[in-house]
Amino acid sequence: MEIKRICCIGAGYVGGPTMAVIAQKCPHIKVTVVDLNEKRIAAWNDVNTDNIPVYEPGLSDVVAAARGRNLFFSTEVDKAIAEADMIFISVNTPTKTYGVGKGMAADLKYIELCARQIARVAKTDKIVVEKSTLPVRTASAIKDILDHTGNGVQFQILSNPEFLAEGTAVQDLFAPDRVLIGGDTTPEGQKAIQALVDIYANWVPKDRILTTNVWSSELSKLTANAFLAQRVSSINAMSELCEKTGADVNEVARAIGMDSRIGPKFLKSSVGFGGSCFQKDILNLVYIAKSYGLNEVADYWEQVIIMNDHQKRRFAKNIISTLYNTVSGKKITFLGWAFKKDTNDTRESAAIYVADDLLSEQAHLSVYDPKVTEEQILADLNYLDTRSETENTKGIIVENNPYAACEGAHAIAVLTEWDEFKEYDWQKIYDSMLKPAFVFDGRNLLDKKALEKIGFVYQSIGS
Ligand code: NAD
Ligand code: UDX
Repeated sequence: MEIKRICCIGAGYVGGPTMAVIAQKCPHIKVTVVDLNEKRIAAWNDVNTDNIPVYEPGLSDVVAAARGRNLFFSTEVDKAIAEADMIFISVNTPTKTYGVGKGMAADLKYIELCARQIARVAKTDKIVVEKSTLPVRTASAIKDILDHTGNGVQFQILSNPEFLAEGTAVQDLFAPDRVLIGGDTTPEGQKAIQALVDIYANWVPKDRILTTNVWSSELSKLTANAFLAQRVSSINAMSELCEKTGADVNEVARAIGMDSRIGPKFLKSSVGFGGSCFQKDILNLVYIAKSYGLNEVADYWEQVIIMNDHQKRRFAKNIISTLYNTVSGKKITFLGWAFKKDTNDTRESAAIYVADDLLSEQAHLSVYDPKVTEEQILADLNYLDTRSETENTKGIIVENNPYAACEGAHAIAVLTEWDEFKEYDWQKIYDSMLKPAFVFDGRNLLDKKALEKIGFVYQSIGS
C-alpha cells in the first residue's frame, strides 16, 4: 500500500518536527499537521519561520523548505483525518492530575478523543499510528473504539514511538539510531507495517528500522526512557558521595564510561533531569507494574524519581546553607530555565523546583534564559500553586540581558547548560556582584579554575 496523504494529530514538540522531517524527506507525500490549539497552528504558519512555536536548531529551515509544498499546518482536524491514508496520533499524554492513578498514570483522555474523532470521521480504510508515548496495551483500547464504527471501515493500528531528544530533534530525526514499528502479526498488520517502513526507508537505512509486535514496541519506549533516566539518577547518586569523599564525579564518570559495557553517554551529573518525558514515563511504568501486582518492579523504578527529586532539593538546600543559612531578601540569579540547552521547553525543568524552594525562603530571583519567555517562567511557577500569582510575580524578575540579571546579585545558579554562558565576561559579572560572589554550577559547565582566579566562590555538583 502506498501512502499519499498523512495526517498528524498534535502539533507539539514531537508532531511538528517529526512531520516536518517526513515532509522534507518524502516530497511525494502530503503531510497535514492538525491541532486544536489555534495559536500554536498560527505560529507554525508564521511567515517568518523563526517564530514557529518549537525552538530546535535547524528546524525553521526544514519547515521553510516543505511548508506550503507538501507540509501544512491546520486546525481543520476532521478534514485532515478524512483525507488521510495514515494518521499519526501525537497528542500529549501527561501524568493524570485527578482520580484513580492521580500523580502516576498517563492521562489518556486526549488519545481516546482522537480515536473517537477518527472513528466518527473516517469513511475510508486508515492506518492509525501511535506516535505518543503510551502505556503498554493502549493499542487494544484504540482498536476497540475504532472497531465499533459500524460503517465497515478497516483500521490497522501501529505503534511507532518517537525517540528524538529535544535540542537535537532535527539531527535525531535525520539520522535515528533506530526506528521502531510495532504492528499486528496478521497479514493485514504486516502490510500496514510495511507501508510505514517504506516511508522511513526514504532516508533511514533498512537495518535501522526494527519491526516488532505492538506490545513490545509500546513497552520499549517506556523502557528506553526508564534506562536513560536511571543512568542520570545513578550518576547523581554518586555525585553526593563524591562531595563527601573528595572524589570528583566527572573523573568517576570518565573512568566508568570508558568501560565499553557502560559507555560514555548520559553520565553527566546535574541538578536533576527535567523534560516532559522521563518523570512522566517512569511514573507510568511504576503504575503499570503496580497494577499487575509487581511491587518490587515498581519500587525499583520509583527510586529513579526519588533520587531525582532529592538532587533538585539538595541543590537548593546547598545554596541556602552556603549563603549563611539565609537567602531572605537576597538576589539570586538563575542562568537558564529550560530543562536542557537548545530548547525553549521548560516542562519539569529542575529550575522550576529550585526556584520554588528559594522563593519559599524569600529569595529575590532574577532569571535569564536565551529562549524562555517571562510569561512561561511565571506560568511554570504558578502551576505549582505554592503561593499566589502576585507573590510569584513579586519574587521574580526576568531579564533579557545576562549582565543585567547578574548585577548586584549575591549568587548565581547555573540551571541550564547553554553554551553562551561559557563565553560571558565573567570578570565583568564578578565586578558587578556583591562579595563574596558565589556561583552554584548545577551543570558543571563553567571553568572552575578561571572563576576562582577571578575571585568567585565556585561550587559544582559532585566535587
Ligand atoms: P505537546 O504538548 O507539545 O503537543 C501535543 C499537542 O497535541 C498539543 O499542541 C495539543 O493541543 C494537541 N492536542 C491534544 N489533544 C488534541 C486533539 N484531541 N486534537 C488535536 N490536537 C490535540 O506534546 P509533545 O511533547 O509533542 O508530546 C506528544 C507525545 O509524544 C507525548 O505522548 C510524549 O510523551 C511523546 N514524546 C515526547 C517527546 C519530547 O521530547 N517532547 C519525545 C518522545 C515522545
Ligand atoms: C528524552 C529521551 O532522551 C528521548 O529519547 C525521548 O524521546 C524523550 O525523552 P529529552 O527529555 O528531550 O529526551 O532530553 P534528554 O537529552 O534525554 O535529557 C533529559 C534530561 O536529563 C535533561 O534535563 C538533561 O539535562 C538531563 N541529563 C541528560 C542529565 O542531567 N545528564 C545526562 O547525562 C543526560
